[in-house]
Amino acid sequence: GKKIGVGLLGLGTVGAGVAGILQAPEGRHPLVAELELVRVAVRNLQRPRSIELPASLLTNNPQAVVDDPSVQVVVEVMGGIEPARTLIMRAIAAGKAVVTANKAVIARHGEEIAAAAAAAGVYVLIEAAVGGGIPIIEPLKQSLGGNRIERVSGIINGTTNYILSRMAQEGVAYDDVLKTAQDLGYAEADPAADVEGFDAADKIAILSGLAFGGPVNRDSIPTQGINKLQSRDVDYAKQLGYRVKLLAVAERLNSDAQTSQSLPLAVRVQPTMVPLDHPLAGVNGVNNAILVEGDPIGRVMFYGPGAGSGPTASAVVADILNIAGIRQLGEVHGSLDPLLAASSWRSCHL
Ligand code: NDP
Ligand code: HSE
Repeated sequence: GKKIGVGLLGLGTVGAGVAGILQAPEGRHPLVAELELVRVAVRNLQRPRSIELPASLLTNNPQAVVDDPSVQVVVEVMGGIEPARTLIMRAIAAGKAVVTANKAVIARHGEEIAAAAAAAGVYVLIEAAVGGGIPIIEPLKQSLGGNRIERVSGIINGTTNYILSRMAQEGVAYDDVLKTAQDLGYAEADPAADVEGFDAADKIAILSGLAFGGPVNRDSIPTQGINKLQSRDVDYAKQLGYRVKLLAVAERLNSDAQTSQSLPLAVRVQPTMVPLDHPLAGVNGVNNAILVEGDPIGRVMFYGPGAGSGPTASAVVADILNIAGIRQLGEVHGSLDPLLAASSWRSCHL
């Protein structure tokens, strides 16, 4: 088949994982071999890389990647709000598909990005933005579509779960474990986003939008992190038969509830004492788990590695493959219906 040009914005933890998958297509979905990495933007061209790429692929001008005519799918894994937001909008305006792992930008600018994507008839896919390698965006958008979702809750930050697990299991000091989580590539560039709960708040805002079909004001989510927790809090909880977990929760309120929010929803992020017999109590290390409760399905749980290079790249590549598959369909049928592209995103209601 015809190769599909992929442009990477970022070659850090996630970007290098994506490049690694594209370099070794054997044994994976046949479409992986059709993806060609054609341009990669980094900040510092001199930095030693964990992955070998031809020097000619690298640039320190991310706009050049977006504008490159051979790039059909722009993969934004650079992080931060700007210039990520502007680059995503530029790619959409040029009619290019976008894949991003950037929950910070989607939680704040998802509406604007979704509207632009719908108008341009292009895909913007965000599977890696929540839960690392766990498929959760696609199930909420599609497989669970027949349900009235009542509640989405769980552990959606790998760094803090790694820290809390090691504190509970080994009694290690908070600061030492945070350093390890950073070395393992789990933490955000500024780890305050992890330990103060903001990353989990970004993610629950995104999940709420998908599950309940309306935008959530990111800045109105009550958020408490684990940065004020002490070892003795974790120890006392353990003695009482609980685990301390950083939980993010979004739930429908009774329709008669008095609320100033546009949707009758309660959304929050806070450290929580979880009884040992609860399914979330046994979720340890960098793993995440998301419980989705709805009618008529009851309760389903999505579990797996919530951060790190390989798991996150797995989700990014799945999104690229979705786009590649749709492009191929378009070639078979002579055109790609822009409405099809737009509706997939519109159903997100971010
Ligand atoms: P890193 O800090 O490891 O990598 C960021 C990359 O982007 C680096 O290669 C950096 O260049 C490049 N970059 C940053 N700013 C610019 C710029 N202005 N111009 C050009 N290149 C730039 O981040 P991660 O890979 O960990 O994270 C990337 C994104 O994925 C973030 O949005 C993060 O929230 C998200 N994410 C991360 C996960 C993880 O486990 N790490 C999991 C899920 C999502 P250089 O290398 O030269 O510094
Ligand atoms: N810093 C994030 C975490 C990366 O620890 O969960 C995955 O989104």
